[in-house]
Amino acid sequence: MDTKTLMAALRGEFVEKPGDRLCAVHGGYTVRTFATDEGKYVGEFPAECPACKADAITAAERSLREAKLREDMQTADIPLAYLPCTFRNYLPTCPDAQAVLATVREYAKNFADHRKVARSMTLQGSPGTGKTHLGVALLKAVMWEGGSGRYSTMADMVQAIRSTWSRSSSDSEAAVIRRYTAVDLLVLDEVDAASSRSDNEVGLISNVIDQRSRNLRPTVISGNVTKAELLAAIGDRAADRMRDHGGLMVVMDWSSYRGVRKTA
Ligand SMILES: Nc1ncnc2c1ncn2[C@@H]1O[C@H](COP(=O)(O)OP(=O)(O)OP(=O)(O)O)[C@@H](O)[C@H]1O
Ligand SMILES: [Mg+2]
Ligand SMILES: [Zn+2]
Repeated sequence: MDTKTLMAALRGEFVEKPGDRLCAVHGGYTVRTFATDEGKYVGEFPAECPACKADAITAAERSLREAKLREDMQTADIPLAYLPCTFRNYLPTCPDAQAVLATVREYAKNFADHRKVARSMTLQGSPGTGKTHLGVALLKAVMWEGGSGRYSTMADMVQAIRSTWSRSSSDSEAAVIRRYTAVDLLVLDEVDAASSRSDNEVGLISNVIDQRSRNLRPTVISGNVTKAELLAAIGDRAADRMRDHGGLMVVMDWSSYRGVRKTA
């Protein structure tokens, strides 16, 4: 039945009778059948099993959501080696690690609330303790809930912004900065000591974090430096933002998992 005939049928221009139909998957359902005054069959409504139709919508929604997630994952720039990282495959090796996993998981679960006040988080500690693993797991969790995210090392971000200063650059500085400020969650990894960085660069980093905070977008920074160095690397203004509204300061100082994995 084309739309025009269907509309006419629903307006009552045909003889209507209830009919029973059987769906192989969902069982019986009722339709309205329409015929002309002469008894010529015109069609019926609904034309297909309503449950099948609902399933198709769910499937379409699911594939749309998956497509969006795939796209988000691409722009999130998660390093290939860390793509499989999740909270589930993070196996705490000591009670401290157990507690940190719980903290980061909680942060992911309540991200919407943390976002309302731009409550950020720093992950600070020794090599191989899973800072990058948990940062990526968190990003994926946020994106799974429909949020947007981006991973970058601090050096890569600085480099990406600096590269726009060259005359041959096709990207504007503002456009590149927006890549880091526009996402719901930014994970800035491998923050190193500020001594290796010019004031100009520290200002740049500080500005990104501060701007994010003003737009209620939390930032996660992580690195294998002391807490003081970590905060110095991002400048005073950003350091304040990281502490605002009970910003979380997570310490990860157990021995590296890189050795554990070889024997496990
Ligand atoms: N508790 C854990 N359970 C499972 N895998 C882990 C755990 N901790 C670390 N890993 C894995 O060990 C490797 C090293 O961890 P990761 O790179 O996250 O450490 P990191 O703290 O970021 O180190 P670095 O300071 O060198 O950057 C990764 O492959 C990570 O997935
Ligand atoms: Mg790391
Ligand atoms: Zn059906």
